[in-house]
Amino acid sequence: MSTPPPDDTPVTDTDAPVAPTARRFETLERYERLWLRIGVAMLVVFAVLTGFEAFRNATLGTHGMTAIAPDKVSSTKPFDKPGTFENKDGSWSAVAVAYRYGFLPKGDLVVPEDVDVKFQVASTDVVHGFQIPGVSNVNMMVLPGHVSEVTQRFDTPGRYIILCNEYCGASHHFMVAHIRVLKKGEDPANPPPLEDGTAATTSVVEGAGSEHAGMSGMDHGDDA
Ligand code: CUA
Repeated sequence: MSTPPPDDTPVTDTDAPVAPTARRFETLERYERLWLRIGVAMLVVFAVLTGFEAFRNATLGTHGMTAIAPDKVSSTKPFDKPGTFENKDGSWSAVAVAYRYGFLPKGDLVVPEDVDVKFQVASTDVVHGFQIPGVSNVNMMVLPGHVSEVTQRFDTPGRYIILCNEYCGASHHFMVAHIRVLKKGEDPANPPPLEDGTAATTSVVEGAGSEHAGMSGMDHGDDA
């Protein structure tokens, strides 16, 4: 027949742009080497940073936190009187003790709105958690032997739940507490009743923190 034969001419080197191909591979290799170097450099940087942190924590011994003997919590200030109080600088402290299965103080922690609240929490036994979900960044592990600290400002008054979020035993899920953030003008030492009418308790510790702590001549109702 007269059909032309298929073009089965073998591809020869002369058809391929030899020089550009070689250059393209060289470029790829150059980027690959560059990225490999960046990767290795990052590994080294991270290893050094991690190592430095580990060394620092190991030398400090307490991960930068205050140490406290778990069996001495109840006799160590300020944990001998868990509760809240105003500091000299106008901030507030909220001191709590975590134990199986609850928190001290027994009643609500009471603090004003729009002030820095410095939480200090210690455990008398095992690892607990201290978390105020939803409204704050307060979310700590409470390790026996250490004082866990975090500062939080509450800008919305209300009553918020505090949870233990570390499994600590059979009744872990019963381990809850509350914090009340009072409106401006309300007295933490003499808080208004709860929304459901329940008489409120105060957590304000008289005489703690500063000379301002026992403010407004409140009656703690210790005889109640
Ligand atoms: Cu304490 Cu879970």
